[in-house]
Amino acid sequence: MKKSPKQPYRLWGGRFEKGAGEQLETFSRSLQFDYRLAQADIRGTKAYAGELQRLGIFSRPEAEKISKSLDAIATEAAAAGKKYFEGAAEEDIHTFLLGKLRERTGELADKVHTGRSRNEQVALDFRLWLKDAIGASQFALKTLLGSLLEMAEKHSSVILPGYTHLRRAQPLLWPHYLLAYFEMFSRDYQRLERCFESADVMPLGSGALAGGGLPMDRKKLASELGFARVSRNSLDAVSDRDFALEFLFAASLCFLHLSRLAEDWILYSSEEFGFLEMGDEVSTGSSLMPQKKNPDSLELIRGKTGRVLGHLVALATTLKAQPLAYNRDLQEDKEPVFDAAEQLEPALRLAAQVVETTALRPEAMRKASAEGWLCATDLAEFLATKGVAFHQAHEIVGKLVLDSVRAGKQSESCSLEELQRYSPAFDEEALPLLAPEAGIARRTVPGGTAPASVSQALEEARAWLKAT
Ligand code: ARG
Repeated sequence: MKKSPKQPYRLWGGRFEKGAGEQLETFSRSLQFDYRLAQADIRGTKAYAGELQRLGIFSRPEAEKISKSLDAIATEAAAAGKKYFEGAAEEDIHTFLLGKLRERTGELADKVHTGRSRNEQVALDFRLWLKDAIGASQFALKTLLGSLLEMAEKHSSVILPGYTHLRRAQPLLWPHYLLAYFEMFSRDYQRLERCFESADVMPLGSGALAGGGLPMDRKKLASELGFARVSRNSLDAVSDRDFALEFLFAASLCFLHLSRLAEDWILYSSEEFGFLEMGDEVSTGSSLMPQKKNPDSLELIRGKTGRVLGHLVALATTLKAQPLAYNRDLQEDKEPVFDAAEQLEPALRLAAQVVETTALRPEAMRKASAEGWLCATDLAEFLATKGVAFHQAHEIVGKLVLDSVRAGKQSESCSLEELQRYSPAFDEEALPLLAPEAGIARRTVPGGTAPASVSQALEEARAWLKAT
C-alpha cells in the first residue's frame, strides 16, 4: 500500500520480494478496457466508504472528505473521457481510482479498501455498468419499435408477397409483415428486462470469497446503490457471471433478429425485387461504379451479428469448468460484454433510421403478389369448403397452376370457365380469389393477415409500446 510519487498505486505486494515481471504486468493489465467501469466503481466506493464510517473505520469528516474527493474524481473523469486513463501505470480501474483518491486525500485513501476485495468490487461494478447499458439498449429498441409501428400504420393497405424458402407463398399486408419484426423486437425488449433483473443483485459484502469480515449492512448498501436484492452466497456472488452471459444471449438474439430484417430489406431493395428504396442517409456509393447505391447500413448490422454471437460463445467458454470461486479468467468477461453493448445500441438506432427513411414501391409489391399464383392455397381451400377433399383440391389446383405456368398465364386473367375446366365445384364466388386482396381478406384469424386482424394487432402493439 506504499506509493512513492513515481510508482503506480498497488493493492498488494507485502508478501513479495520483487514485483511482477514485465510480461505479466503487460499481459494482465485491464485498465485499457475496464476504465469503462470508472463511474460505477466510484459509486460503489462512495457507498462503501459510508458503510466504513458506520463501522467506525472513518470519522464523519473523513468519510465526507472521501466522498467529496470521489465526486471530484467522477466529474474530472467524465469531463476528460478516455484520456483520463491513458498512460497510467495502475493495473486496473479499481487501483487507478484509489491512486487518484490518494492524490487528494493522502493516507486516508489507504483505508478505503478495509475489508473489501476486488473480487466483489469488480462484480459490483460490472453489474452496475450492465444495468445502465441494458437501459440504453432498451431505449434504442423502443425507438426501433416505434419506427416499425409508424411505418406499419402509414402503409396499412400495402400488400406484398409473403415467402417461404424465398419463393412466393401467399400475399400479405405490409403492416402484418412489419409486425412480425415488432413481435421479435418486443420479445428482445422483455428479454433485456429479465437480464436487468438478473444483474440487479448486489454482491458487495462477499469479500474475496467467504463473506466480509466486517458486520456491514448489506441491505442498506444495496438500496443506496439501487439494487433490488443482495446476493445470497458469497462464493457464487464473486464468481457468477450468469448475468453477463444472459445479456450476451439477449444481445445476440436481438442481433439475429436485426440480421433477418437486414437480409429481407437488402433483398427487397435490390433491382431484382424493387419493393423498397432506402434513404440516402443510410446508403453508400461505390468508389468506382457511379450508379451504385449500396445498403451498407444493413450489411454492417448483419455483419456485426457474427461478432456479437462470437462474444456469447467466448464468455460461455471462459466460464466453463472454472473451479469455485474467483479466478483471474473472469477478467475475460468484460470485453465481450462491453463490445456487445457498444455494438447493439448504435445498431438499433441505425436500424430505426433505415426504417424511417425507407420508401415503399407498392405497385411493384402488388405486381409481385399477383404474379406466381399466390392464390393457389385460397383456391384449394375454396374447393374444400365446397366439399372437395383437400387432398384432391390440392391436386386440382396444382394441375391448374402447372398448365397456367406453362402457358405463361397469371391468375387475374383466368375466367370462370377456365377454372371450371379443372373442377365443377368452382363458381362465381371463386373469381375474386384470383386477386391477392381476396386471399388476404380470408385470413381473419387472430394473428392472421386480414385487414381487421392486422388493425387489431396494430392497436395492441401501439398500446403495449405506450405502456412500456
Ligand atoms: N481485474 C480483475 C477482473 O476483472 C479484478 C481484480 C481481481 N483480481 C484478482 N487478482 N483477484 O476480474
